[in-house]
Amino acid sequence: MNEFDDLDLLEDVENLEAQVQTEGHEGYPATTILVDEHRVIKRAVDILVNAVKNEIQDEKLYSDLARFFSEYADAIHHGKEERILFRYLKDHAPEHVLEIVKELENDHVRGRELVGKIRENASDVDSLRNYALAYASMLRDHILKEDEGLFSAMHPYLPEEEEEKMMEEFRKADPPTKKELEVLVEELERVTHVE
Ligand SMILES: [Fe+2]
Ligand SMILES: [Fe+2]
Repeated sequence: MNEFDDLDLLEDVENLEAQVQTEGHEGYPATTILVDEHRVIKRAVDILVNAVKNEIQDEKLYSDLARFFSEYADAIHHGKEERILFRYLKDHAPEHVLEIVKELENDHVRGRELVGKIRENASDVDSLRNYALAYASMLRDHILKEDEGLFSAMHPYLPEEEEEKMMEEFRKADPPTKKELEVLVEELERVTHVE
């Protein structure tokens, strides 16, 4: 499979790792929930990249990671963005903000495809390697586009009282499994020695 260039991907992944140093969006409680979830997701991405770089063969590890990306990064986190935040912005924000939203929605779709490939190839690190690196690179870049791009661009159109309401909606949208999935990341960090 030569769909991706390995070396470029590794370089991308490492450059993005160095850039992702976002501070919280203090005073914006709904945004802060998303930024906090990004931190958990980035830890899971680190575990994935590290395992692939070290050519670890561990079907359970990759299946667990695929489950986390699908249930937490996608269903819980992207679910909040798409069903609550983006929907609000489509009614209240101007075109330059909606252009960013469109790009982010496309990333979510691409992410779903790549997680499917990681899950399908969990039994063989050589087969999943390029999908994993492409996903890691895309997701780190995606998180940067949100933390540093969308969130600052949208604040003028999301007044404080709306942020408060949205925070409540975010909390209500969380399934009981959210905490369990965060604990899964801690466990995977322990077993793979990634911190
Ligand atoms: Fe997103
Ligand atoms: Fe996000």
